[in-house]
Amino acid sequence: MPQTAGFFYRQAMEERGHAMMMVQYLLDQGEAVAIPGVAAPVTDFADVVAPIRLALEQEQRVTEQINDLTKIARDEADYASDQFMQWFIKEQVEEVATMSDLLAVAFRSRENVELLEEYILREQQGEPEDPTAPPEAGAAG
Ligand SMILES: [Fe+2]
Ligand SMILES: [Fe+2]
Repeated sequence: MPQTAGFFYRQAMEERGHAMMMVQYLLDQGEAVAIPGVAAPVTDFADVVAPIRLALEQEQRVTEQINDLTKIARDEADYASDQFMQWFIKEQVEEVATMSDLLAVAFRSRENVELLEEYILREQQGEPEDPTAPPEAGAAG
């Protein structure tokens, strides 16, 4: 399933970019950067729907975490961090919507995964450059 694999390879790079935005923000604020280890990913799935359902659940959890961080910034009257988080709030709306769409298509395509492949080829070939995105640590320029 090269299209679906390509989608998730692109998504992994995008997520790395989001993490590096947060790293750059902490550096800009003169804060210490501590990146904890992550648990090994789940790699064994019963069918084509299961990994996409897991991805959607992760996006929903990330949305909660982004909202929690924004609330902390507001409670602390940390207006710069509040503003920094606004981009991620918007981004999570997009990420949850994209993964919800993908899950719906995967469910309908579970008997014929070529339909999922064709959907990704047609509709999910990456996002346009976002000039409002925060800078990433280590990015050129
Ligand atoms: Fe995400
Ligand atoms: Fe995104």
